[in-house]
Amino acid sequence: MPYYQVVGEVPRKRHVQFRRPDGGLYAEELMGEEGFSSDSSLLYHRHLPTAIVKAEAVTSPPGTRLEPNLPLAPRHFRTQELSTVGDLVTGRMLLAGNGDVRLSYATSDQPSELYRNSMGDECVYVQRGSVRLESTYGVIEAGAGDYVVVPTGTIHRWVPDGQVNVLAIEASGHIRPPKRYLSQYGQFLEHAPYCERDLRSPAEPLLVEGEEVPVLVRTRGGLTRLVYRNHPFDVVGWDGCLYPFAFNIEDFEPIVKKTHAPPPVHQTFEGPGFVVCSFCPRPLDFHPESIPIPYNHHNVDSDEFMFYVGGDYSARKGSGIDVGSISLHPAGFTHGPQPGAVEAVIDAVSRGITTTSEMAVMVDTFRPLDLGQGALSCEDPGYAWTWAR
Ligand SMILES: [Fe+2]
Repeated sequence: MPYYQVVGEVPRKRHVQFRRPDGGLYAEELMGEEGFSSDSSLLYHRHLPTAIVKAEAVTSPPGTRLEPNLPLAPRHFRTQELSTVGDLVTGRMLLAGNGDVRLSYATSDQPSELYRNSMGDECVYVQRGSVRLESTYGVIEAGAGDYVVVPTGTIHRWVPDGQVNVLAIEASGHIRPPKRYLSQYGQFLEHAPYCERDLRSPAEPLLVEGEEVPVLVRTRGGLTRLVYRNHPFDVVGWDGCLYPFAFNIEDFEPIVKKTHAPPPVHQTFEGPGFVVCSFCPRPLDFHPESIPIPYNHHNVDSDEFMFYVGGDYSARKGSGIDVGSISLHPAGFTHGPQPGAVEAVIDAVSRGITTTSEMAVMVDTFRPLDLGQGALSCEDPGYAWTWAR
C-alpha cells in the first residue's frame, strides 16, 4: 500500500519498550514484504505471536486439480449454477489458474476459521451480500462491489451476514495499484481512476481473548493447522504501509475516449503475471462515427477471464452470457463482439443512447490459464460456436 496508517496504540519510537498496563511488555511484530526492502507494518501484541502449541497436516480439499484448456477454445462458465459447500475459504471452487494466480468462486453464509495464506496476496471480490473481514489489523465491513485485498500472511477470517458470493483472486505475490497511477513516492496521481480516499482499511484494533486457537495456514507445501496458545487477534495497535483494505468498484472513475479505449484504461490492480480491470458504467465513445464496443482483438500474450457482475453487455448479445457469467478468451483465439452487436450498438447510438451500464471484473493473465473442476462443472458447451451462427 502506498500510504502510512496508524491504528490504536503504538509507542513513540519503533523497537523500544512498550508496556501493558500490568507492566509487562507488548510483543512487537514486523510484517514486511520483500525481505525488509518493501512495505511493512509494526504490530503490537498482548501475547507472543510466536507461541504455537500444535501443528497438524491438513489434506487439501478435493477439486483443486487444474487441466490445460485443451482442445483450445473460448469458454463460458455459469457461476449461477455453482452451489458450493463450506465457508469462503474452504468452499472455494477452483475455476482457473496457473503458476501466478488462482481464480475461485465461493458462496457461503458460514464464518470461516482463522486463515493465513502465506503464498501470496488475495483479492476477494464481493459479488453479492455483506461480509466482515476480521484480521490482526482490525475489521473491514465489505459489501457488493468491494474488492478486499488481504496481504500475504495476514491472519484473518470471513464472517458473512447472510449469504455471500465472491470471486477469490489468489496471487503468488503482491497485489498493488498499477505503478503508473502513483508518484515515485507512492501517492496516487491526478490521472488515476481512484485514490487514497476511496480505500477503506481497519479503523480500530480488534481484540479477542482466547486460548488454543487453530489457524489454517496455506504454503506452497500444502495446508497445515497451527494451534496458537493465545488468540492472534490481540493487537492493541499497529502502524505502517501494509494492511488489508477494501475498494468498491462503484468508486472507480472510468476513463473514456472519443473512440474505443482498450482495457488498460480500466486497470485497477496489478499482480505478478496478471492485472485486474473494472469495467464500469460510463459514457459511450463520442466520435460521431465511433463503434463504441470492442473491435475484434487477439491480445497475443494474455488469457482474458471476464466476470460479468452487472448491467447489460451489448457486445455479448446472443452469446448466452448474463450477469454471473464468466468468459475465458485464451491466447490463440481472436475474440470480439457477437454477430450483429456492432450494427445494434450503432443503431442504439443513432436513437440517442449515450451510456453503457456494463459492469465486469476482468483478470488478464500473461501465462495460459488452466481450468479447474468448478469451471468445468458449469460450462456452457455451445459458447465457442456462437460467433459462427
Ligand atoms: Fe477482450
